[in-house]
Amino acid sequence: MSTHVICEGNIRVRVPLPDDSSDFTISSASVFYNPEMELNRDITVAAISGFIDRTGVEPASISYADVMSASGIRGIRIAGEVGLKCWLNDWNQDAYELIQENIKFNGLEESCTPSHQNANTLMHQEQFDIVDLDPFGSPAPFLDAAARSARRLLCITATDTAPLCGAHLKSGIRKYAAVPLNTEYHREMGARVLLGAAARALARRDKGMNVLLTHVTRHYVRVYLEIIKGVSHADSTMEKMGFISHCIHCGFREWESGLTPEQVFGLSGCPNCGKNLKLAGPLWLGRIQEPDFCGAVLKELETRKPGKCKEAMKIVVFCKDELNIPTFYDHHWLCKKNGVSPGPISDLISALKDAGFMASRTHFTGTGVKTDAGINNINDELTFVFNKDSLK
Ligand SMILES: C[S@@+](CC[C@H](N)C(=O)[O-])C[C@H]1O[C@@H](n2cnc3c(N)ncnc32)[C@H](O)[C@@H]1O
Ligand SMILES: [Zn+2]
Repeated sequence: MSTHVICEGNIRVRVPLPDDSSDFTISSASVFYNPEMELNRDITVAAISGFIDRTGVEPASISYADVMSASGIRGIRIAGEVGLKCWLNDWNQDAYELIQENIKFNGLEESCTPSHQNANTLMHQEQFDIVDLDPFGSPAPFLDAAARSARRLLCITATDTAPLCGAHLKSGIRKYAAVPLNTEYHREMGARVLLGAAARALARRDKGMNVLLTHVTRHYVRVYLEIIKGVSHADSTMEKMGFISHCIHCGFREWESGLTPEQVFGLSGCPNCGKNLKLAGPLWLGRIQEPDFCGAVLKELETRKPGKCKEAMKIVVFCKDELNIPTFYDHHWLCKKNGVSPGPISDLISALKDAGFMASRTHFTGTGVKTDAGINNINDELTFVFNKDSLK
């Protein structure tokens, strides 16, 4: 395999060199390396560093495993930039050889251990303070072992957004045992379906979770879950599972905790317009961002200034400021529904706040509004604010 050297963060690694053939793709290389994920890795470095700070533990005594390492770039960054003891695993022989080469190349033999196993076998055999799951596609087949292995923090990337978000419904149901709905907030729904699956995997091991940071960026979902050991924490985590009921006709939605939908919602139609409601779940209804943690990640990004710093900060600022409410409304959908031409989204947010509601933007999409106002109040404010503008 021919390789070339790239720089990312503070480290340099060898990655597969695109050959001359026009059919070279990232996934056809014998070892996977995706330059687009630099942003994901920049946030990972900042998030893990922020997390270590709050534990107050010496970085060198914290273990981190990237159980699907490919070139090893993620773990090498964590060892080189945060100073953790890292385990870099991949079952692919070429990847394993490249991991070894990249560890040497960065002089990190003391802090990095290469490993060549099935990730599930490794996670069933060993425990790590931090486990990072970064598979091709769905992390579902690895959640059980990861929940067993991770002691303090579980980081998960999922690139199977179509099953998670409801675009490939049956596949999502098979993988996550949850029904998503392909609504305008399907990106958030996907994140919550993944979080629900992680919560259940952890609960089976008598562990609870505190979601520190969630972002859906480009084609993937990324979550950072602080693990809290103990049956009572596992129980309170499960209490944050529930369902969202949604009316595709008028946009009404509500959510309720619980795992038996008939008890949660009854079986009548939409209380707003009388049409049939659709149910999504079971999924995570708890908090998906911890503002203080997001603040710590922002500080780290500011200090470290990684390659994708600006983009990373923009995402995390939105994550920090978005309301703790499990759905959002699409501004364009609302305007179309109300027959008004969309004005600035900030005007709608201000109008909702002036009317005494909570309202914020969301990192999930530039046209999303999170609010505790009901659909009729939103419609009123929207019509008022944008009709008034069109009369000026
Ligand atoms: C998306 S890549 C990882 C990228 C890497 N973490 C990064 O940041 O560049 C997924 C890797 O998982 C490896 N893999 C897939 N299934 C595995 C398994 N069951 N056990 C170990 N490695 C696995 C593949 O060989 C591939 O190298
Ligand atoms: Zn309705």
